[in-house]
Amino acid sequence: MNRIARWLVLCLLSPSLAAASPEGVVAVSQPAAAAAGARILAQGGNAIDAAVAVQFALNVVEPQSSGIGGGGFMLVHLAKTGETFFVDSRERAPALARADMFAPDGLPMRFPLASTSGLAVGVPGTLLGLDTALRRWGTMKLADTLAPAIELAGHGFRVNRFLAQDIADDDGRTQLQPETAAIFRPGGVPLAEGDWLVQPDLAKTLKLIAARGPDVFYRGPIAQAIVKAQQRGRSELGNAGKGRMTLADLAQYRVTIRPPLIGHYRGWTLAAMPPPSAGGLTLLEILKLLERFPLGDTAQGYGFGSPRTLHVMAEAMRLAFADRAVWIGDDDAMPMPQRALLNPDYLAARAALIQPDRRMDTPQAGDLTPWETAAAQSKPVRARQESLHTTHFAIVDRWGNMVSYTTTIEYTWGSGITVPGYGFLLNNELTDFNFMPGADPATGNPGANDVAPFKRPRSSMAPLLLLKDGQPVAAYGSPGGATIINSVLNVTLDVIDHGMTLQQAIDAPRLSVTQATGRISCEGGLPFMQPAFSIATQDALRTLGHTGLGETGTDGCRETIGSVQAVVVDPTTGAHGGAADPRREETVIRVGH
Ligand code: GLY
Repeated sequence: MNRIARWLVLCLLSPSLAAASPEGVVAVSQPAAAAAGARILAQGGNAIDAAVAVQFALNVVEPQSSGIGGGGFMLVHLAKTGETFFVDSRERAPALARADMFAPDGLPMRFPLASTSGLAVGVPGTLLGLDTALRRWGTMKLADTLAPAIELAGHGFRVNRFLAQDIADDDGRTQLQPETAAIFRPGGVPLAEGDWLVQPDLAKTLKLIAARGPDVFYRGPIAQAIVKAQQRGRSELGNAGKGRMTLADLAQYRVTIRPPLIGHYRGWTLAAMPPPSAGGLTLLEILKLLERFPLGDTAQGYGFGSPRTLHVMAEAMRLAFADRAVWIGDDDAMPMPQRALLNPDYLAARAALIQPDRRMDTPQAGDLTPWETAAAQSKPVRARQESLHTTHFAIVDRWGNMVSYTTTIEYTWGSGITVPGYGFLLNNELTDFNFMPGADPATGNPGANDVAPFKRPRSSMAPLLLLKDGQPVAAYGSPGGATIINSVLNVTLDVIDHGMTLQQAIDAPRLSVTQATGRISCEGGLPFMQPAFSIATQDALRTLGHTGLGETGTDGCRETIGSVQAVVVDPTTGAHGGAADPRREETVIRVGH
């Protein structure tokens, strides 16, 4: 490693070095779940064992965001071989799913109705993903990793501010189904911060899994209860809202192990999430569009938070999200023009659309024909505003194995359907598909994200491993629907272009655009979000034609975007550190101190 690279890596790690752990570090958005992972590391488990325990614990203490009723992507980096894999436990559409199922009369169902109906429930993958990761790379038994979660569910835990807030602001989702209301609104009263929550049904379920393994979920009594529960719809939708999952769909569910998508940015290497997530491809496309701008150079008017930097970030996001909307979906169901999207000539043509002095008109997805023979012309697809929940955590163990895991039940509270007698929520992941089929032979739109049997809905989840000179230096990711890609992007730029430490990068305000039409969302208003995007900066963006920021002279950056958890490794000393996001209940536990 040369001197400059070493200096950059040290900058990235510097706050963590002093507290570096010889054993391991867990970074999670919820302290009780972080403690579950730390306990496993302290017992001698590795990062994969700890990650499995954290996910089970999150199912108990952050049930609104992830759990065995959902799916996710776990990045695993193995120190011994240097290999990186993704465990893809994304939910799948059932065999009876059809392209028009969210638009049975030719009109899209309303999201609040569709997403709280059994129709939206994808075949859950999380439990089989955890079991697969543990069997391949873990050292502990499934039952051992379940122990902390079983205690939390059986003995209870104190409701934190974020869970209480999500119950209070639930869009009705904890009120629609009696089993969900009984847990989170006992006697009709929403749980408040500080209340004690015991979940006996969930404890029973986790004990069953500990005793009998995943089969009890995918083939046994829990499978029967899931199939029955997802037949619940919303009366407004009639039979069209009922779920289509059968026992065979659950029995046939399979996890996929995927190699990473490898990209490069200013001499750093990124091991990123491939399809069925758009996370890696869209992140890499934005980075490659931005690489031709000197984002770190304040002398040229760039630098963190300058109008010039924010303008090109917003424009690159718009171009990449236009491509995402048309071209990206489940690659196993339909071949995708992955190489074309990252072809240097294509990217050069795309980047040339970014003008320095004005916001471009709404871009369409690019024509990939010259770069990929299978690709065709495109037409815009109306993108739905995607939900803002999910969760991300990161772990490094004493051997240097790393896990970066983004996991979800889709919307906050998923479908709102708790499996009766078993105490866990079912996802609404199938609403990540196109509601209106996009496939159109006349225009060449492939319908990459149209519903189809067994297909996985397109995700935005983007667990990431950052490497320098071939050595892993950081693993991170974020929740937040489509904004996930931009949260990971902001943090990556802040570290590489703006020389921030990972914790500074996590704290710094973020900017996000998730649609080609280009409405900007940006952060501000919380004291740790420094340096803030000033009103003068926002006015400069307004003058360039950007929208979403409100009136001239006002502060339009008031949002909160994502929740990034990270672990870092010094490739020279092997020292470990962690960084977590104050946007949720940031928790970094260093085991062995
Ligand atoms: N449902 C969130 C995502 O997969 O991106």
